Amino acid sequence: MTHFRLALILPLCLSLLTACNQQPATETTTAADTTAATTPGQTDTTVLNKKPDWWKETVVYQLYPRSFQDSNGDGVGDLKGISQRLDYLKSLGVGTVWLNPIYASPNDDNGYDISDYRQIMPEFGTMADFDALLKGLHQRGIKLVMDLVVNHSSDEHAWFKSARSSRTSPYRDYYYWWPAEKGTPPARYSTFDVKKNAWQYDSLTNSYYLHIFSKKQPDLNWNNPKLRQEVHNIMRFWLDKGIDGFRMDAFQFVAKDPTFPPMPGLTEQNFANAYNHGPHLHDYLQEINREVLSHYNVMTVAEGAGRNLTEAHLFVDPTRKELDMTYHFEGTGVGSNSDTYKLTDLKRVFTKWDSAFAQKGWQGLDLGNHDQPRMVSKFGDDSPAFRAPSAKLLNTFLLTMRGTPYCYSGDELGMTNINFTTIADYRDVAALNGYQLLKSQGGNQAAYLKSLRRFSRDNSRTPFQWDTTAHAGFTTGTPWLKVNPNYLTVNEAVEDQDPTSVLNHFRQAMRVRQQHPVLVYGQYQLLDAANPHIYAYTRTQGAEKVLVVLNFSSEKRSWPVPTTIKLNGKAWLNNYPTLPAGSVLQLAPWQALVMPL
Ligand code: NOJ
Ligand code: CA
Repeated sequence: MTHFRLALILPLCLSLLTACNQQPATETTTAADTTAATTPGQTDTTVLNKKPDWWKETVVYQLYPRSFQDSNGDGVGDLKGISQRLDYLKSLGVGTVWLNPIYASPNDDNGYDISDYRQIMPEFGTMADFDALLKGLHQRGIKLVMDLVVNHSSDEHAWFKSARSSRTSPYRDYYYWWPAEKGTPPARYSTFDVKKNAWQYDSLTNSYYLHIFSKKQPDLNWNNPKLRQEVHNIMRFWLDKGIDGFRMDAFQFVAKDPTFPPMPGLTEQNFANAYNHGPHLHDYLQEINREVLSHYNVMTVAEGAGRNLTEAHLFVDPTRKELDMTYHFEGTGVGSNSDTYKLTDLKRVFTKWDSAFAQKGWQGLDLGNHDQPRMVSKFGDDSPAFRAPSAKLLNTFLLTMRGTPYCYSGDELGMTNINFTTIADYRDVAALNGYQLLKSQGGNQAAYLKSLRRFSRDNSRTPFQWDTTAHAGFTTGTPWLKVNPNYLTVNEAVEDQDPTSVLNHFRQAMRVRQQHPVLVYGQYQLLDAANPHIYAYTRTQGAEKVLVVLNFSSEKRSWPVPTTIKLNGKAWLNNYPTLPAGSVLQLAPWQALVMPL
């Protein structure tokens, strides 16, 4: 692969966030394996417990605070803005909100570069605003999960300022340094760096420091027990305020060999895998569990699930006492770096991961997040004719799979990619630094922009579309990132009034999931695995069985119902007015059916 192609692709697919998806072929599971994994009718043992784990039954709404609601006209979403919209969140039926980082930050990576873990970013408000938000959520029965970003801090954190000032600083060992008199450090790659170099020379102490994300995100040294205790105390600080859990950012990368041995074979393509699961990773997690988490009834979710199913289990096997669940990158990774994707790949990936947790452990499910394009633009069809049915289908899929669904804010409306045409419209460090790198290498800027239109993270970060007023009701000022012009039709106010909207379909799907534990716990069995257009599966728990049929295409399709399945004319969910019947179902484009059997 040429440098140019790397420059084009790496910043876009965020290799650190996606490259850990490669599974050894030996772990590929077929539908038949899935069937073998659990006997039909067998239930997860949790169902038999008196008190099920709340985090298995909840649906998580991932909320990007910068883009949700601005309350003071500065163009940036904030905590008071979220508090103004709590009744909306309640109306969705979601049980948990995961907030992307709201801590003090210079915003090199939109809050994933934290300068004070116990302060609220002034743009987002005050600690009083946070306390009010937490109270308001809890009053409505909604839990709050916060991002925990401790693979790295900001270079503007007091720890780093002190650490870089002198080699004898008490905070020096909170970070990784390579003294320049030892020569150039062994190669390490970085995902956001304009030169892809994870070592930044710092003249103040004539040393290099390590940053596997941007140079404003120096990596924290987890080999240092003092640093680990600092993190434990930060966690306790927020848990004692009453929050309900953490999403652990980039956690699979925290463990490193501090001697930085040469890594032969390390390349720009494989470095994420190479950094994964360093020494003592699971010791650190067990220590966190023992010291902190075991004292609270909260949930934890790891971003990323290791390189394979075995590693994923190490995070979430309950007997190991580490984390509660993990979500894999392989689902959102399907179709990355190409204009299309194969439905059979999507089925294979979700089926494989379901089977991995059929007996033990638990996983999160998502089709989009703040690091991905909009799910309807990627996995559906965002043209005016099919945006709504395909968004409904994707929400149906997420809410009828086994695991905890993570719904990314705006997907309940069917929000789409924005199609920026100039680099000046982008705000994401990945897009901007990737552009610098490309320019320095004389790469093809038009091709880069085309690729950004499809894959940039800013696609999912555009402001939430509330109504038809200026800037979609997000702000009275100038929004920090442009509003998608389709807000005049795709917005909460209009959709709320339309019983057939994507929004009201989402609410209905949420009710169906809450009313039917079979959709949470039931055994999943893939049907018709090779069908390139139809994704069909059953969910079974005890005597209850449900058939889900999803036409993943913008064409009408017919689907012969397996002879073992008897339909009874009932549907819990249908995104069209008519319910197909007979032994061969005639499905409308993007039709999504959930039928009790
Ligand atoms: C993963 C987060 O989801 C992403 O947004 C961020 O850029 C990196 N971790 C670095 O914190
Ligand atoms: Ca604001």
